[in-house]
Amino acid sequence: MKKISVKNLCFSYVKDEPIVKHVSFNIHEGSYVSIVGHNGSGKSTLARLLIGLLAPDDGEIYIDDELLTNKTVRNIRKKIGLVFQNPDNQFIGATVEDDIAFGLENRQIKREKMHEIIEKFAKRVGMEDFLDKEPSRLSGGQKQRVAIAGALSLGPEIIILDEATSMLDPKGKSDIKELIEEMRKDNPSLTILSITHDVEEAFLSDEIIIMSKGEIAFKGKPEEVFSNREVLKSLNLEMPFIMDLKDRLKSEGINVDKSKDLDEIAEVLWPLK
Ligand SMILES: Nc1ncnc2c1ncn2[C@@H]1O[C@H](COP(=O)(O)OP(=O)(O)O)[C@@H](O)[C@H]1O
Ligand SMILES: [Mg+2]
Repeated sequence: MKKISVKNLCFSYVKDEPIVKHVSFNIHEGSYVSIVGHNGSGKSTLARLLIGLLAPDDGEIYIDDELLTNKTVRNIRKKIGLVFQNPDNQFIGATVEDDIAFGLENRQIKREKMHEIIEKFAKRVGMEDFLDKEPSRLSGGQKQRVAIAGALSLGPEIIILDEATSMLDPKGKSDIKELIEEMRKDNPSLTILSITHDVEEAFLSDEIIIMSKGEIAFKGKPEEVFSNREVLKSLNLEMPFIMDLKDRLKSEGINVDKSKDLDEIAEVLWPLK
């Protein structure tokens, strides 16, 4: 089933300076899609359009086949959780618990029920021991996990991560990658749209959309996108580790395409990277 459908979307902040140009794509329910592209290519603008913070100049956005308009935006917004790049900009609570509670308070949920929900999602992201801590004392990765718990606690059907890992260290990045995989196992119908510069993270997704100057430059499975060194070079991206390894072995005459052991080899070599 189509969860998000974008048709011929056009947007400009300033007249005659189009930022999103005739963008069309579909995202199926339960799929995990990454959007990759240079800074300024219109990715965050696209995210703002999807949650109705901006209105398109032309084209349509459908969520569950419902056209996003002034009238439907409230209902549609409830289905979408958004996590931004800078964790410090999304904290409002004095403690981690208050912070996760923030969105729930707006929903007028009873106290006891709220605590139950908060515990569940703090656990979900491995932050249950930090509920009484001050958010400012957490590491970047922990902050993003709390932000994700806050978004998940509202029961969204779609999660949009806008460079949620880009300010994190490698440990924080891999924590969030694991969390994405766990969220999917936990709730297979959750649709995830992740805007990211992290090729290892994007490599895990079902599909990749590459944006360039407000347009979709390429769309496909991670293997297709990342096997093209030309595309990667033009985007200033590296090849994901596992593909690079395969590629190098192949150029040495060792064909590992069929090897099931490669993932294991990669696990062993990973720390050497
Ligand atoms: N509020 C705004 N007003 C005017 N121009 C903006 C605004 N926000 C972003 N832009 C411009 O739109 C372009 C795309 O920005 P953005 O969507 O943030 O790109 P990305 O997320 O891919 O880095 C950039 O050239 C940026 O300067
Ligand atoms: Mg951005």
